[in-house]
Amino acid sequence: MEFRHLGRSGLMVSEISYGNWITHGSQVEEDAATACVRAALETGITTFDTADVYANTKAEEVLGRALRGERREGLEIFTKVYWPTGPGRNDRGLSRKHIMESINGSLRRLQTDYVDLYQAHRYDHSTPLEETMEAFADVVHSGKAHYIGVSEWTASEIRQAHRLARELRVPLVSNQPQYSILWRVIETEVIPTSEELGLGQIVWSPMAQGALSGKYLPGQPPPAGSRATDEKSGASFIAKFLTDDVLTRVQQLKPLAEQAGLTMPQLAIAWVLQNPNVSSAIIGASRPEQVHDNVKAAGVQLDAGLLKAIDDIFDPIVERDAAKTQSPPQRP
Ligand SMILES: NC(=O)c1ccc[n+]([C@@H]2O[C@H](COP(=O)([O-])OP(=O)(O)OC[C@H]3O[C@@H](n4cnc5c(N)ncnc54)[C@H](OP(=O)(O)O)[C@@H]3O)[C@@H](O)[C@H]2O)c1
Repeated sequence: MEFRHLGRSGLMVSEISYGNWITHGSQVEEDAATACVRAALETGITTFDTADVYANTKAEEVLGRALRGERREGLEIFTKVYWPTGPGRNDRGLSRKHIMESINGSLRRLQTDYVDLYQAHRYDHSTPLEETMEAFADVVHSGKAHYIGVSEWTASEIRQAHRLARELRVPLVSNQPQYSILWRVIETEVIPTSEELGLGQIVWSPMAQGALSGKYLPGQPPPAGSRATDEKSGASFIAKFLTDDVLTRVQQLKPLAEQAGLTMPQLAIAWVLQNPNVSSAIIGASRPEQVHDNVKAAGVQLDAGLLKAIDDIFDPIVERDAAKTQSPPQRP
């Protein structure tokens, strides 16, 4: 495993981190979830990402149980707040009330006294940013989180939050956006702003949820047990990537990956890590073998010819529109 600084902070994170959206507490049984966490630890992953909302709070519980007994100082545990965790109108968003209640719930479920990074899972247009940032500052100053971050915030939202964070003396160190060969919307605005202000990206769905793994074939039904067959939740999220056009182009990556001595999942993950503003790529996995395969993307350098060949294949279909970074106009 290789390690990078999280933005300009002193915190080191594993280049590849493990996240449990869709899988823990939902798609996979607890044994498989625990086996994936064990595989992550065995292969040198120290950074784990979850959220209060995943599997209606069950994902944090599963991760807390799977990490029990590990040396806490050897781990970086990240969670998030914003999406609904209960039926009430205050069980969501970034009000002071919900942030204070949600961090306590997350710590209880994760069985830890603090998280290393507490992230705003989206921008809350119904709460003054000052209120949100003051609540985050209090979470940090009370020792319940070491650093704060945001997720899917625009460049201008990041800039405003950064100004307040400095005033409140609280370390805003990261953004968590979607980023992959197919989804490059952060490149024109979010990344330059983050570089200027010292935030690093912790990128999600680097493999486009499995679409870049090569296992989904154009015109064929998805393989049994894959996310695309998980009607409870996964299938609806991955659907946008499973068009014949995307999947035909993905198959063109196969010879390029082979030539580079990589599997297709490794190529997809290594691709996001070529960007120096990316601090970590968060991988998901439904089976431990996937973790063992994917972590080999750490430390891989892709040459300019290969990057150009990838651009040539995907250029007509890559999503680059900065306006695709957005939070719901109203609280969900
Ligand atoms: N901040 C946000 O709004 C946000 C949103 C989404 C995700 N995230 C974070 O990002 C993490 C990762 O997201 P993701 O799960 O979509 O990431 P991903 O790495 O793009 O996709 C992971 C999925 O791809 C399949 N896969 C993984 N390795 C494979 C391999 N070697 N061969 C074939 N298939 C493989 C598995 O699904 P199957 O085996 O089931 O097909 C796995 O669950 C989440 O857990 C969460 O922590 C954050």
